[in-house]
Amino acid sequence: MMWPMPWLSPGVVYQASCYDKVMLALKIAVIAAEMSPYAKVGGLADVAYALPKHLKLLGHDVVAVIPYYKFMDLQNLAKELVGQQDVEFAGRTYHVKFLRTHLPAPQPVPVYFIYQEELFSGRNKVYGHSHDSLRFAFFDWCVFLLFEAIGWAPDVLHCHDAQTGLIPNYLRHVFAKKPFWQKTVTLFTIHNLLYQLVEGMWYQVPPEKRDRGHNTPPDDPAKLRTMNFTLRAIRNADLINTVSERYAQEILTKKFGEGLDGYLLRRRDRVFGIINGIDYSVFNPSLDHHLSIHYDWNSLDKKLVNKNALQNSLGLPSNRDVPLIGMAHRLTEQKGFDLILHILPALLRQPVQLVIVGGGDREYLRQFRQVAKRHPDQVAVHLEFSEPMASRIYAGSDMFLMPSRFEPCGISQLISLRYGSVPIVHKTGGLADTIVDFNPRTGVGTGFVFQTYDPDDFLVALVRAIETYKYPRVWEHLTWQAMRKSFSWELPTRKYVELYQRAIRLRHAVG
Ligand code: GLC
Repeated sequence: MMWPMPWLSPGVVYQASCYDKVMLALKIAVIAAEMSPYAKVGGLADVAYALPKHLKLLGHDVVAVIPYYKFMDLQNLAKELVGQQDVEFAGRTYHVKFLRTHLPAPQPVPVYFIYQEELFSGRNKVYGHSHDSLRFAFFDWCVFLLFEAIGWAPDVLHCHDAQTGLIPNYLRHVFAKKPFWQKTVTLFTIHNLLYQLVEGMWYQVPPEKRDRGHNTPPDDPAKLRTMNFTLRAIRNADLINTVSERYAQEILTKKFGEGLDGYLLRRRDRVFGIINGIDYSVFNPSLDHHLSIHYDWNSLDKKLVNKNALQNSLGLPSNRDVPLIGMAHRLTEQKGFDLILHILPALLRQPVQLVIVGGGDREYLRQFRQVAKRHPDQVAVHLEFSEPMASRIYAGSDMFLMPSRFEPCGISQLISLRYGSVPIVHKTGGLADTIVDFNPRTGVGTGFVFQTYDPDDFLVALVRAIETYKYPRVWEHLTWQAMRKSFSWELPTRKYVELYQRAIRLRHAVG
């Protein structure tokens, strides 16, 4: 495929220029349903936290907006009330408050919360309510009211994933008529195309009821239920991107397009890929306070201390010669758990240990609990996600499994690289963009990559890894190489700024 913007194509190294310094500071609002450290369900929260921070570092005027959920009451947030009003929405009146806090120094980005007791702030779950469409349609609408209330007209509304998908729609069909919003553009970032509606799945909606995304979203809670938020964003956003270059190509195909490939293809000149970064001030074995001992690529022997501590804490035999394979994900179909269950009997005939942390699908949890019971010397599970446990697994494991069926970007494999846990991944999406298959003859590579989503292919990659592990010098070289790979936020942040500028230029060219 032809890349519409050569600087965004794979392999092109972006050169920082003096332009970075002289460019005009943009007013950017990053909007999402979750944002670390206030509310985290998945990787979206990490991106929504890191991107504003790094945009601010480049000198932009940036704010973030998220809903206020009940569990935030416990976080002792210093917040101020910056506005409140009654809002007529979907046949009712809701009282809404706009609250503000700041990310901690040195980048004290203002974070605004939309506080509405009944829809968000009296509830603990971020997603999974019976009226999520109404909740997030309301949130999207309130984003406009918030900025009008505080008199801050953004240049860019950067909307993340389905929950913010009606924002480009409301802007184009309702708010753009007002002078306040005339220069505002939208960028819609797809973190996972599978989730398009905020209630249920798109493919479960009978074809005759499917939203086609015309005009303004309905003002009726029953009709909102079948609104495809992502489709509406794709139709209305100035630009669209996803979180890796490869996934940006994949979503244009039937196989990965989740029923929206036709809509995306029609706007393919507006679809880009920018790989996520990770925040090395957070994910770093030389700073992580959950570890037994800190280490970096120059002190790999200390990684062994972490391995030993992990084995002891989980009741696994303490043995440095047995490769310890780690996983830290939500147990969902997307992450390849079917493949793992399929190959487990064969894998456990090898001298390996397997450690899993993560909550998720009940059936997977049940099956893994059983496997751990049957193989107490080889398998340990901690089936509830915990950050300290995840850190210890990254640090204590030798290999990290990520055989996702599809993966828009993936953050765990980037963390595992930095912690020296060599990733074993399926060649898809962001995994394909970030992990280079190890070639023992040339010594080049950072992990083990398998081509087809198939148990045999996966097992071959695992066996290659286990065999390589038998050669300590080769393994040490591979680990060292993986750890030195950098996926910081600097480059992606600059690419996002270029997308914002491109959206603004396109808008001016049109009108
Ligand atoms: C979603 C995707 C994952 C991505 C993350 C952050 O969770 O599934 O691949 O890394 O969003 O963009």
